[in-house]
Amino acid sequence: MRSSRSSGRELRRKVTIVGAGNTGATCAEVLAQRDYADVVLTDIKEGLPQGKALDISQMAPILGFEPTVSGTNSYEETAGSDVVVVTAGLPRQPGMSRDDLVTTNEKIVGSVVEQAVAQSPDAIIIVLSNPLDAMCHVAKSVSGFPKKRVFGQAGILDTARFRTFIAWETRSSAKDVQALVLGGHGDQMVPVVSATTVGGVPLTRLVSQDRIDSMVERTAKGGGEVVELLGTSAWYAPGAAVAQMVDAVLLDEHRVLPCTAYLDGEYGIEGLYMGVPVRLGADGIEHVLELELSDDEKRALEASAAAVREVVGVLGSAA
Ligand code: 2OP
Repeated sequence: MRSSRSSGRELRRKVTIVGAGNTGATCAEVLAQRDYADVVLTDIKEGLPQGKALDISQMAPILGFEPTVSGTNSYEETAGSDVVVVTAGLPRQPGMSRDDLVTTNEKIVGSVVEQAVAQSPDAIIIVLSNPLDAMCHVAKSVSGFPKKRVFGQAGILDTARFRTFIAWETRSSAKDVQALVLGGHGDQMVPVVSATTVGGVPLTRLVSQDRIDSMVERTAKGGGEVVELLGTSAWYAPGAAVAQMVDAVLLDEHRVLPCTAYLDGEYGIEGLYMGVPVRLGADGIEHVLELELSDDEKRALEASAAAVREVVGVLGSAA
């Protein structure tokens, strides 16, 4: 008897998640519950992807989805994936910035992308490994894929953090808070207060500037706050954020979401991955949306771009 099965229904799409750690497994779990795609978890650690895939599959009869999650230590079973999610790499530990991981994770991300694209040459790649913006450069360079098919998750997570704090502050449903965070996925990210509303009412009309400043600061340092509490990186919200991007692609939703996209002059930034609002559909990034920013926001975005460039400059020949 096989330990897992594929659906045998060719209409189901296929998602590979590289890295069966907390984030990869959470993403697999969320996607499995969506029930439109088969999910393959791959990881070098023997038993880990198989065990997590088995456990997630056994949620299926309880929660009501098809048990089509499989785990593997190789890439053969990932062949023909529509989307490859890259979560592989070391996570942060207390006291580390995301940028401290650059050299180690460059090698890991380069190697897994090479193996994944050999099996799935038409896939869309979504990167989650840190430092995120730099790892997107590695994935683009190693895969040779066009920019619309290689992008990263950061903005949905950063925006979700900002929206959560605003919901608590205003005692409103998080569902009714609209916000946007631009820039690199580092402490210099740019929560765009001018584009933030609660039920369509500008945040600045609801909350004092002091409280807004404090929520902006907490958002920018949001990843570090979780690392200090848990001793490692967050995984629930990051995993769910990637699943939202996979939905947008595989269901061709044309969602407007903040994603880490390769900029070719948009926002005055050339040749750099940065978080910006994009329209996401079956072809990947269909369009980068350009917002009207205040002078302060423009300056903050430039500072964030400079910080990303510095980390990208540390990358080896891969990028
Ligand atoms: C975070 O911000 C893991 O980078 C991720 O929590």
